Amino acid sequence: MMKLLPVLLALVVSVGLNAVAKQHRKLYFGTATNNEEFTNDTAYLNVIKDSRMFGQLTAANSMKWENTEPSPGQFTFADADQFVRFAQRNGQILRGHNCVWHQQLPDWVLDGTFTESEILAAVERHCGTLLEYSINDALNASEDSWDVVNEVINDDGTFRQDVFFNTSGTKYIAAAFRAARAADPHAKLYANDFNIEGPGPKVTAYHNLIKTLKKEGVPIDGIGIQAHLIVGQLPSNITENLESFTKLGVEVALTELDIRMTLPSTPQLLAQQKKDYETVISACNAVKGCVGVTVWDFTDKYSWVPGTFTGEGDACPWDDNLQKKPAFFGIIDGFNA
Ligand SMILES: *[C@@H]1O[C@H](CO)[C@@H](O)[C@H](O)[C@H]1NC(C)=O
Ligand SMILES: *[C@@H]1O[C@H](CO)[C@@H](O)[C@H](O)[C@H]1NC(C)=O
Ligand SMILES: *[C@@H]1O[C@H](CO)[C@@H](O)[C@H](O)[C@H]1NC(C)=O
Ligand SMILES: *[C@@H]1O[C@H](CO)[C@@H](O)[C@H](O)[C@H]1NC(C)=O
Repeated sequence: MMKLLPVLLALVVSVGLNAVAKQHRKLYFGTATNNEEFTNDTAYLNVIKDSRMFGQLTAANSMKWENTEPSPGQFTFADADQFVRFAQRNGQILRGHNCVWHQQLPDWVLDGTFTESEILAAVERHCGTLLEYSINDALNASEDSWDVVNEVINDDGTFRQDVFFNTSGTKYIAAAFRAARAADPHAKLYANDFNIEGPGPKVTAYHNLIKTLKKEGVPIDGIGIQAHLIVGQLPSNITENLESFTKLGVEVALTELDIRMTLPSTPQLLAQQKKDYETVISACNAVKGCVGVTVWDFTDKYSWVPGTFTGEGDACPWDDNLQKKPAFFGIIDGFNA
């Protein structure tokens, strides 16, 4: 037994998360990334470039509105190109992130004054151009997904009052999806949001939005469930909640998974985190319409959590030194559960 242990360990250690996800009929296991990370960090590069580990990449920042259309109608894809070429080289599919979001907007959108038809035209031009760009450049556009609208509903189930909603009501949502589909007939078009991992008013509001959009013939294919979660505080009914979406005729994906803890981390917290990763992954695994999972960067070294939630962190499956944490093995256990 003692002699077998290292052999077993070696087998487990060489397992790739994307390879395991695909064994379980998922389309991908992926990660978000930023250009400077894979460009300038060799240890990081060596993990992320392996398509057995990550079959899909999301650009954490390089495709956002402020980076792609800094002034009206002036599109710049230099950062996006670097990201897309990197994914192509590695044989990784893409998640476009994102067309319409209330943050990381250029000033001309954020501080602009628009009529309804002006804001709808701006949304259509932006989404249409982004999707046209990605269909031309992506490795395999037929497998790609896009977060067409991001975070459009508040936790209480009301629509977020941002420049788009204040000017057009919910019309911008339909306009964004229609422009995206017109530009790229194949990419899966998603609405993406946080705090929709378990049932509640926000999930009910999304159910209603899906029904309304489908009734109007608006091309929505999926709901991106961000899954920024907290160790020891997972919502109950994640599986049933995923199913409640797929029953409405959309696919789902876990798009930004991380599970943060109050620092400092302890062996107990890391063990609970492993269990929580396993729970979330096994929920997706159990639901046929849950097509894939993306972590919001794979290493604590580049996690957004400490910069946003004071005193919290260590949310990712690899640690600061790019060593696998118990959470990594929780992901594998979740697929094999
Ligand atoms: C990588 O580092 C170099 C040197 O600091 C810098 O000039 C370059 O912009 C970095 N690359 C990215 C993509 O940030
Ligand atoms: C692209 O994806 C489609 C759909 O999954 C698949 O049938 C096709 O073989 C893929 N093509 C390439 C070049 O990978
Ligand atoms: C949208 O309208 C709400 C309610 O009047 C207001 O609080 C908010 O500042 C507005 N936001 C923008 C970006 O116009
Ligand atoms: C959540 O789970 C509980 C207990 O398993 C069950 O009674 C309840 O109906 C579930 N709720 C939803 C929305 O699935």
